[in-house]
This record gives sequence, structure tokens and C-alpha cells, in this order.
Amino acid sequence: MNKQLRKAVIAGNWKMNNTPAEAAHLIEEIRPLVANASCDVVVCVPFIDLHAAAKAAQGTTIRIGAQNCHWAQNGAFTGEISAPMLRAAGVTHVIIGHSERRTYFGETNGTVNRRVRAALDEGLNVILCVGESSEQRRQGVTDELVAMQVKIALDGVTEAELQRVIIAYEPIWAIGTGKTATAQQANAVCAVIRGAVAALYGTDCANKITIQYGGSMNAQNAAELLSQPDIDGGLIGGASLKAPDFAAIVTAADKG
Ligand code: 13P
Repeated sequence: MNKQLRKAVIAGNWKMNNTPAEAAHLIEEIRPLVANASCDVVVCVPFIDLHAAAKAAQGTTIRIGAQNCHWAQNGAFTGEISAPMLRAAGVTHVIIGHSERRTYFGETNGTVNRRVRAALDEGLNVILCVGESSEQRRQGVTDELVAMQVKIALDGVTEAELQRVIIAYEPIWAIGTGKTATAQQANAVCAVIRGAVAALYGTDCANKITIQYGGSMNAQNAAELLSQPDIDGGLIGGASLKAPDFAAIVTAADKG
């Protein structure tokens, strides 16, 4: 089974939630619950929480991620944070191209690509998000759209760098709506994404890349989603803010 070639990764995306003190508290709650996890566990926190989160996760296998990074190393970019800054803060992973950034903050496939390359240059692991809106799904362009998002985001990324890329399929219509894609729908698009990676890098690389599903994944539906052949993990929003729910998803990934 190709699934055994891949590392299962469960990542929490806290979005704009939790102060530093709340971040430390939540990670302390998560710690014992995921201590024996065999999948990788990542918690992506707001920039301001990075220090407290890294401290709370010290000595554990929990990895700390950010939710974006700029493409330049430094410079006149008010309000932005660079990849070297993230690395210095103890970050190992960074989410890039989340649909909320594309929709609310003007991210394009081009800027996503620049950010991906900057993060990889700095030695970070990238969680690259792709996914369609409900309108695009209705129009029947989901497969072409996600393949194009993947292709542009990975432009200039070498085969060696690809080993530090996780792709998260997040249908926009399923994010924060409680409306999950069915396991079959989610798996079908994850397979399309794997096919897009195969077209760019060959089947060996495609068989090794971790592809997550994200969008209203929770303690109840995680097991079915994670048992699909092309779904190797999850990117979890709302349910990652409650330690028992997040831990239940980690347990489901260990079984998936
Ligand atoms: P929800 O799990 O809250 O739907 O969010 C998913 C998501 O956007 C993770 O990045």
C-alpha cells in the first residue's frame, strides 16, 4: 500500500484565536493526550503566540507552525513576518496559501509560489493549501483548478525540496461550515492532487507526498476521512481549539 510510504500529519490551524497565555495552556492540555502518537502533530498558531507555543511544546514531539510567511528575508514590508524570523522563533512548519488568505488578503497563486519558495529556502516545512469554492465545484472545474494551484505553487521547487511539502486539500465550502466533503469526494480530489504531483515530479515522488484534507474535520468524521487511500492527514480548524477533539483526530490518524 502506497499509504505506508507516507507520514500521516495532523496539523491544527488555530487561525486568529488564543492569546500567548491561552496558547501555552492549550498546548499543555494537548501534550499528554498526543504523547504516544505515531503520526506527526503540528500546531499552527498566530505569530504572537509562537514563542509561548514553542516553549510549551519543548521536549515533546509537537511541532510548531505559523500560518503565513513573507517571501523576502527582511525589508520594508510593514506588518509582515519572514521565514528566517519564523525559524528563529522555533517554527518548523508554515501554512501557505490558505483560502482565507487568498480570499480576504489578496493572495494569488503567484504570491503563494514566492512564499513557498522562501519558506523552503529557509529549511521550513510547507503546508500548501489548495481548494475550490462551491461555485467552482458547481461549474465542474475543481480538478483543473486544484491541479493549477499545485502547479503554480510548486514552480521552481526541486524534487529534494518537495520532501518538505505537505499539500492540504481544503474545499472552501467545507471550511468552518460544518459541511464536510464526503470521504469519497475528498479522496477523489486528493487523488487528483497526487496525479498533478506525479505529472510534475514522477510517481515515486507523488506516492511519497503527504496530502491532508481540511474542512470541518472533527472527532466524529476523522476516522472515515483518514482511512481513505489518498488522505494522509488533516488540517484542522475549529476542532483543533479543543484538546480532546484534536487528540481524538490524532488517534484516528494513527489508526488510518
Ligand atoms: P475548520 O476545521 O474550522 O473547517 O477549518 C479548516 C481549515 O481551514 C483549516 O485550515
